[in-house]
Amino acid sequence: MEEAKPTAPKAPVEVTLRKFELSDVDAMMAWASDPKVAAACRWDPYESTEPLLAFIRDVVLPHPWFRAICISVADGEDPRPVGAVSVSPTGDTCRFELGYVLARAHWGKGVATAAVKRTVAAVFGEVEGLQRVEALVDVANPASQRVLEKAGFTREAVLRKYMLKKGAVLDMVMFSFIDTDPVPDCPSDSLRRCKSVVEYIYLYIGVCIKSPVISELYLNSD
Ligand SMILES: CC(C)(COP(=O)(O)OP(=O)(O)OC[C@H]1O[C@@H](n2cnc3c(N)ncnc32)[C@H](O)[C@@H]1OP(=O)(O)O)[C@@H](O)C(=O)NCCC(=O)NCCS
Repeated sequence: MEEAKPTAPKAPVEVTLRKFELSDVDAMMAWASDPKVAAACRWDPYESTEPLLAFIRDVVLPHPWFRAICISVADGEDPRPVGAVSVSPTGDTCRFELGYVLARAHWGKGVATAAVKRTVAAVFGEVEGLQRVEALVDVANPASQRVLEKAGFTREAVLRKYMLKKGAVLDMVMFSFIDTDPVPDCPSDSLRRCKSVVEYIYLYIGVCIKSPVISELYLNSD
């Protein structure tokens, strides 16, 4: 999946995530029917909306963590889906696998990176027992590898002849993000590990004690 590296300057795009609905089928068709998008994925491009509707109904809606990547396409317009991000169960309950895809019209604007950052900032607090999110990327997909690097994932290894995709055996790069890793540029990051109000209170007290004013009060208290 070699694409020319975009050179245009990037305007910041506000990215939000939400659950899919059946009515998103036409929006999803924009990327699901695109052969250039599907080339990087395990599925073949969709040729009509009926099988895609069945996919949303049977796979997406019951999935434990499958979200629409939404942006406002025009000024003042409500955000709408331009891609998808999922975190799927593996054989181990502590470890889920990340996947993402974006409509070609929105590539090169930082949208996938923002979506992956939002995903890891949210998913550890939402999936019980989750400690590791991993992502497997084709060695020939540098854009996707870059997304993961920018989102704070660790590149662990190249797994040689690891995946059979559309008849080809591929070398894949293994990336991971664990529950204690920081999300780059994410102000709410430290809160995502607070699994209870009690933990939040401890965090708040800890921050106060570290603040110079409160520390001064403590040091001069006797
Ligand atoms: C991979 C994909 C999700 C990237 O989405 P995106 O929103 O364009 O990604 P971002 O803009 O957040 O970041 C892309 C980065 O890759 C870089 N990049 C793009 N093409 C590149 C190339 N050919 N070589 C090297 N870097 C490249 C961009 O410059 C950018 O990095 P930078 O910000 O440091 O300049 C999108 O291209 C896509 O949906 N592809 C098809 C499906 C797919 O590959 N899914 C992932 C399967 S593992």
